[in-house]
Amino acid sequence: MTQHWRLDDTRQTLVLAATGGRCPCVIYWGAPLSLDEDLAQLTASLTLDVTGGMLDENPDLSLCPETARSFPGQPGLTLRGDNGAPLNAAFALHAVDQTDTTLTVTCKDTPHGLEYVAHFALDPDTHVIAMTATLRSARPLHLTWLAAPVLPAPQHADEMIDFAGRWCGEFQTVHTPWSAGIRTRENRTGRTGHEHFPGLLLPCRGATNTSGEAYALHYGWSGGHRMIAEELPDGRRQIQFGHAPDTDPQPATEFRTAPLYGTYSAQGLNGCALSFQRHLRDRIVPWATPTRPVHYNCWEAVYFDHDLPTLMDIATRAAALGAERFVLDDGWFGRRDDDTTSLGDWQVDPRKYPDGLGPLIDHVRAQGMGFGIWFEPEMINPASDIYRAHPDWVLGAPDQVLGRQQMVLNMALPQVRAYLYDKIAAVLRAHPIEYIKWDHNRVLPHADAAQTRGTYALLDQLRASFAHVEIESCASGGGRIDFGILARTQRVWLSDSNDALERLKIQLNAALFLPGAVTGSHVGPRRCHTSGRTLDMGFRAWVAAQRHMGFEMDPRELTDPEISTLRDVTQWWKDNRDWMWHADILRLDSADTAVIAEQQLAQDGARFVVFAGQAATSDQIVPRPLRLTGLAPQARYQISLRNRDAVTALSRGAMPLKDGPLTLTGAALMQHGVRLPWCYPETLWVLEGQRL
Ligand code: GLA
Repeated sequence: MTQHWRLDDTRQTLVLAATGGRCPCVIYWGAPLSLDEDLAQLTASLTLDVTGGMLDENPDLSLCPETARSFPGQPGLTLRGDNGAPLNAAFALHAVDQTDTTLTVTCKDTPHGLEYVAHFALDPDTHVIAMTATLRSARPLHLTWLAAPVLPAPQHADEMIDFAGRWCGEFQTVHTPWSAGIRTRENRTGRTGHEHFPGLLLPCRGATNTSGEAYALHYGWSGGHRMIAEELPDGRRQIQFGHAPDTDPQPATEFRTAPLYGTYSAQGLNGCALSFQRHLRDRIVPWATPTRPVHYNCWEAVYFDHDLPTLMDIATRAAALGAERFVLDDGWFGRRDDDTTSLGDWQVDPRKYPDGLGPLIDHVRAQGMGFGIWFEPEMINPASDIYRAHPDWVLGAPDQVLGRQQMVLNMALPQVRAYLYDKIAAVLRAHPIEYIKWDHNRVLPHADAAQTRGTYALLDQLRASFAHVEIESCASGGGRIDFGILARTQRVWLSDSNDALERLKIQLNAALFLPGAVTGSHVGPRRCHTSGRTLDMGFRAWVAAQRHMGFEMDPRELTDPEISTLRDVTQWWKDNRDWMWHADILRLDSADTAVIAEQQLAQDGARFVVFAGQAATSDQIVPRPLRLTGLAPQARYQISLRNRDAVTALSRGAMPLKDGPLTLTGAALMQHGVRLPWCYPETLWVLEGQRL
């Protein structure tokens, strides 16, 4: 006997089937099936044959593949009993509760006193399915591994794409061909990390950014994950995501995965990307203020050298450039003259601020800006008063290797959270502060799920008390970006790289998951502090204007032409931020590998902006046409080049686009594409489009 359940939206159908009262399997996930599809026939049609060298029946690739049922691949659950011996659960279907948009599957292993619950919640507007697994036990057990509901991976696919990265080089895509065996990504750093963003793209054969079928997954957890993408000897493929193994080392009676977010698209990778962007923006991030103010962050201007008159001067200049929020970065507390001391001593440094932060904040606000401040709450320097008072608050061994001269506080300890809450709350209560940049500048000494839960609890407590304060998740740039932290924060510091050239690519890849509204991007110093490159203001400013814009250079270094360019771009950003907040960021399939391009398309399709970055010199002489996407084929669009000032004397052809707008149909723009003028490398063309 087989039972079936299905979840549908306009873009996808997910079908579960349980045979013989066992744990259900996802038997279909993809393009919508007809509502009268006979699911019994569908199941029958998917039955696998058996031949030599196989078991007499193919074990289920269930929501939690079970060793006890001879599953030949990685199990969805690895448990040990009190005596340390493996406990191989065999689940029987107990109940399925269904609404229009949710499915809750409960299975039991009665002899072992276990209950397994898989929950699916389909958002019909964003097309994202959130999936969690929970394991309950009558007696405390040791968990090594619990996968979120396990999904089959597409058969008509040649590769998978996951993510690697490093400091100043986040969101690098890694393409791996499907082959027999397992690709595992296991993050044991205890934070989301630059190195292992917990996402996976499964493009089907022939899929591009703009067309073809693709699936995408993201595990919304900040403590490190494991991903398994396995092809079984019989050819079936499975995907598992969960917390990094053994990060819940204490025996317990309940374990729960973080949500695994998934979506299917028939519009290429962009279909997945816009689902994640919308879901994150509209369902996950707890916005506190309605618009995104232009930021000024003082880190790359002054570092630890806080001098009140200088900061006031910088604030005045930043406001004149168009900044609306001033963020005071590291260096204001303890005796923090460099990165060797004071983390944990969250009192204002009286040497730098003899009258407290009040005078600076008053000045910032008098310039019409809001005020934000940097904390790195989970960290402690051995050279700090708090460490001398509470060396036992540290996570890991006393003689551990330090990272940036610092250790990590044990966030599972209630007294640590209470201390941090009091210190942060005291600063927030004393001043009109609207923003925290919350940093996390080293990996943990060992991965530990309780640490992540402790951080989430502290963030939740602060947010409950200070709902108007927005928080930015930073971890040496993009070391803690995931939907778990973004359920508690409103912005990510995508990268410590303010190098616009590096940023072009990082921003484009991050947009597979992140909307512009949460993605911080700053105009850095003329000579980039992390790459040594010297980039001109037009390029730096427009790259920052692709996302949530800010400045981070010392404004005193700016020349008059730079000031005027930056003011102009900042004003453009302010004029456009309302619709761009809701826009989808669509990656364009550039025919030229030297060109990194995206199109931000308004939700109503009435306008768009294309950012086409010349990241290197092209092989051919003149630019190849750039195909746009997502337009109505029959509609007419007026396109115009916003930054014609980037045309140089070496671009000497009579191209009408250099002089004024052109009007073309969506079909022409998508099929043939737009030819942009020749430009120097390190130029970002900004092409505005308006539906007529
Ligand atoms: C990290 C952050 C930077 C800055 C410094 C301050 O590196 O990523 O933006 O805040 O810490 O120490």
